[in-house]
Amino acid sequence: MADRPYIVGNWKMNGTRAMLSQARSIDRAAQNLMKVEVALAPPYTLIHPVHREAEQIGVGAQDCHPGEDGPHTGDISASMVADAGAKFVILGHSERRQDHGETNTLIREKGASALEAGMRILLCVGESEETRDEGKAESFVTRQLKASLPETLDNPEESLTVAYEPIWAIGTGRTPTVEDIGAMHCAIRATLVELYGEEQGQAVRILYGGSVNADNARDLLAADEVGGALVGGASLTAESFLGIVIAAAELQDQPA
Ligand code: 13P
Repeated sequence: MADRPYIVGNWKMNGTRAMLSQARSIDRAAQNLMKVEVALAPPYTLIHPVHREAEQIGVGAQDCHPGEDGPHTGDISASMVADAGAKFVILGHSERRQDHGETNTLIREKGASALEAGMRILLCVGESEETRDEGKAESFVTRQLKASLPETLDNPEESLTVAYEPIWAIGTGRTPTVEDIGAMHCAIRATLVELYGEEQGQAVRILYGGSVNADNARDLLAADEVGGALVGGASLTAESFLGIVIAAAELQDQPA
């Protein structure tokens, strides 16, 4: 069902068990909004509790270690998050690239581990404000995408989602223009077709992320090649997140 819009909430480092009621409300509402695929990526500590609440929504992790289970104090392997109920892993988020010095090579390795554990990858890419101002955003992002993807990826339609998240738009209330988002998503699409061929390259969903909220979701989701949204701050309450899911559902009802 890759033609359904995909709305994913990334809770980042937010959430204790008190937030399970939000996940439950999101899940129950999603049962009546089947035109949209909805998922949450809570912190590690809530993956299993959210998985237990979820009857409709997908559950993912925000990261994983690239290696097998073993002596890595404080780390969590791909097989561990899969065992907790995660069906996908967000990789390459700019906050991990910045806060933890994650390189494209490390992200590639993490992707291979996630696939090995039977999960999908939600791979984030995005440029800094400086790179955009220099007019190099598209070349930077397509290079970053190629360098962060795992070497082998069977069936990209099933195993890969890409999220374009300009760093300067994350948590700032600023977003690129709809034209700029469309242009970037078309450049990402062209790269996916180059890598995986016409049919598979066209089938991978490309999400937009960065200051998406219920008020701007309609416009952002209507941009060229946008297959959904990766939402941070506005995913933390059922009310604000469902506003985005409803906007996506309404857009589906509109004639093309
Ligand atoms: P905000 O929606 O808070 O800008 O965060 C976007 C993001 O980084 C999602 O992964």
